[in-house]
Amino acid sequence: MPSKNKPLKIGILSAGGDCPGINAAIRGVGKTAIVEYGMKVIGISDGFLGLINHEYEELTEQKLSGILTLGGTILGTSREKPFKKGKDDPDQVNKPKLIKQNYKALGLDALVCIGGNGTQKTAAMLVEEGLNVIGIPKTIDNDVWGTDITFGFDSALGIATDAIDRLHTTANSHKRIMVIELMGHNAGWLTLYAGIAGGGDVILLPEIKYDIEIVANYLERRARAKKPYSIVVVSEGIVKPKKLKAATYISEKIQEIAGLETRETILGYIQRGGSPSPNDRILATRFGAAAVELIAKKKFGLMVAKKGEIMTSVPLKDVGSKTRLVPPDFTLIGKGRKMGICFGDKFCAGEIV
Ligand code: F6P
Repeated sequence: MPSKNKPLKIGILSAGGDCPGINAAIRGVGKTAIVEYGMKVIGISDGFLGLINHEYEELTEQKLSGILTLGGTILGTSREKPFKKGKDDPDQVNKPKLIKQNYKALGLDALVCIGGNGTQKTAAMLVEEGLNVIGIPKTIDNDVWGTDITFGFDSALGIATDAIDRLHTTANSHKRIMVIELMGHNAGWLTLYAGIAGGGDVILLPEIKYDIEIVANYLERRARAKKPYSIVVVSEGIVKPKKLKAATYISEKIQEIAGLETRETILGYIQRGGSPSPNDRILATRFGAAAVELIAKKKFGLMVAKKGEIMTSVPLKDVGSKTRLVPPDFTLIGKGRKMGICFGDKFCAGEIV
């Protein structure tokens, strides 16, 4: 325990896939810690790898200036999973021990872990090992259990919606079926929201079992109803042959079954790059400040979260190993169905209007 007058020293790292808003969160943590509480802030490089390899630098107020609008993460990131049991790397078993040693060597009073599901799982394991850890949820997938929203999602939604908007004009000119694949891992949040915001005609999510015959039939009916083109928005996590990308598979199948001309777009890492949206900057800043407030109150083993309009926190041990998927009865899906959007299941058998 630090003595009463000694400023607290906190470490911060970003792990897992990057997303817009990580720097805003680092800044939110750092500035609140320094300005409000007089804490020292240590930036750890490349996720948990930096704690294993003892790679870090102090984040002064100066270093935190000008990073709010930057995409990516100034700290770097990695998908290092220190608790993963693997035979390939003989040093794997030592990693948790090294992390604990370096946490102590750095004199840290707490560690802030910015990341998605995998990161929060590791964070929970470090709590078990006796470290004072706070999690901050981030990911474009929006699939972290315990929070209604993660930062990164809103920015990715903007990019994906813009991409779909652009497909409409070229699809219309050529009277084609445009299939666009979006990220999201096993969750369909990004595809659902961008699909609705971008006016998709078919939306395929991992959470709703689709039948390709139903999709092809729906698109044929649209063509017969003089709808000159259609937009099909598919999630990377849908059921498909392993060796094919989701958009490629769906596009080929539509062409094969319905004989319609198709083209595919795989949006890829564009969705994760660039400057965060204003909403993500705000959310990341709020999460960052909330994380420091928990540390100041000596509350650990928690992940900051947003439920409705409320900033709250949930135990890290409850977050790990869970994924927040789109419930099949989610209101937006119901609204979409009522507008004639096809989700690839039996409910899209109705008339095309
Ligand atoms: O979790 C974010 C995410 O972009 C997913 O949507 C995607 O499946 C995955 O990361 C890609 O991971 P990587 O950066 O390791 O290629």
